[in-house]
Amino acid sequence: MAIQKSKGLLGLIGKKKSKSSESDGRKDLKLFEAMRDGEAYGDKELQRSAKDHLWMHFTRHSPYQTKDMTIITRGEGHYLWDSKGNKVIDGLSGLFAVNAGHGHQELADAAARQMMELDYMPLWAYAHPRAIELAERLLSYAPKDLNRIFFTTGGGEAVETAWKIAKQYYKLKGKPTKTKVISRMTAYHGTSHGALSITGIAAMKAMFEPLVPATIRVPNTNWYRSKHLFKTEEEFGIWAANRIEEAILMEGADTVAAFYVEPIQNSGGCFTAHPSYFKRVREICDKYDVIFVADETITGYGRSGEMFASQRYGIEPDMMITAKAITSGTQPLGALFLKEKYFEPFTEGTTILPHGYTFAAHPVACAVALANLDIYDREKLVDNVRTNSPIFRKTLEKLYDLPIVGDVRGDGYFFAIELVKNQETRETFTKEESEKLLRGFLNSAFYEAGLYCRADDRGDPVVQLAPPLTIGPKEFDELEQILRKVLTEAWKRI
Ligand SMILES: Cc1ncc(COP(=O)(O)O)c(C=O)c1O
Repeated sequence: MAIQKSKGLLGLIGKKKSKSSESDGRKDLKLFEAMRDGEAYGDKELQRSAKDHLWMHFTRHSPYQTKDMTIITRGEGHYLWDSKGNKVIDGLSGLFAVNAGHGHQELADAAARQMMELDYMPLWAYAHPRAIELAERLLSYAPKDLNRIFFTTGGGEAVETAWKIAKQYYKLKGKPTKTKVISRMTAYHGTSHGALSITGIAAMKAMFEPLVPATIRVPNTNWYRSKHLFKTEEEFGIWAANRIEEAILMEGADTVAAFYVEPIQNSGGCFTAHPSYFKRVREICDKYDVIFVADETITGYGRSGEMFASQRYGIEPDMMITAKAITSGTQPLGALFLKEKYFEPFTEGTTILPHGYTFAAHPVACAVALANLDIYDREKLVDNVRTNSPIFRKTLEKLYDLPIVGDVRGDGYFFAIELVKNQETRETFTKEESEKLLRGFLNSAFYEAGLYCRADDRGDPVVQLAPPLTIGPKEFDELEQILRKVLTEAWKRI
């Protein structure tokens, strides 16, 4: 939606008599009335209404007492525009989602066509053609042995679903005590109580305790912070995988249902792992009958340089979680892929999985996902990532000449830059310094310099980059220049 520029109409809206008033215990609703009546409005009116009525996710609201919000009004290709007329590069694909870039007419057309053919049906006992077609199409790209799909509306629901299926599966197989989940330190797997229990970020969990019991954390594969302890990354990977075996033995193999891992862990900043890590995890899961769940919410659909990162690293998951880029972010949809083995006990007698979502496999979302995959095939998006990823890495590595850049890591079109106080010693920032650096400066400075990305400190401070899969070397240079300018300025402020 392009907002209508205010033609001094704040006055006009101001004079309008709103049906609601503050005396209702609600701030006025004049903007909605103006929008409905086709009157012009601008940034000022949007700001006031957003501050009065929106509850932003994972966001501090205190700064909005004195500062404006950023209100994004339009997206096209790898660019975004805001309500003040600024244009920025979308360096995060929205939220690791808009892999094919913004504004595809054919996705809009697919949605409109589907709306007129079958606008809605749940997948509760009745199937519909788009879900059937999409399940097959998705499986045609998937790692071997995955044969069945449970649709959700996002990643967290698929995380939750995999756990519930695992618990019921083991009950049906006569192993009712296998209920626990092992996951990795600092990993993010979603916000519902189950998915949050699997998440490994203590600060996100504390206020929601008690959470679902029976989750256990093991080390992640943060090589940058471990390399002084091991000869090779492979040796470190085997060590980290062996901690999973240790945890299984400590808890008792008869109590552990699943191990969840992101092939490239986002939180903490793009932790990759040596393929030996995943091979050893597979061995351990086989040995103790533990379900290997690859959470590809971010890495799925080309981000790593293969359609799924499991294929890139030779991972053979029992279940695979995907979402986000399945529709390039344009419709809410998630898909949990499973081996047939986990479905088989549900085919007998009166057994059902008592679990589902009203909007999962929404026909419009499925139609859009199919059209999105057409774009992937036609524009060879995954090939583009595979070809250009080494150039992207090299371009970002130029930033090592800045003293604040400690590590550039990641794969595909998914990189993190870890910021440090001392490149030699890898000394990190204190909590207070990190707060000042990230929230006090970097996030807004990147945006003002023309780049939407994320500076985050769920682990050590990192800048996260995950642009649309459509870009190439020219845009890498643009990104590098913005990063250089802002990080140079950040160093001066430390
Ligand atoms: C690895 C991973 N799992 C799960 C989720 C949760 O997905 P959603 O926000 O779609 O529920 C995310 C979200 O970013 C994620 O990165």
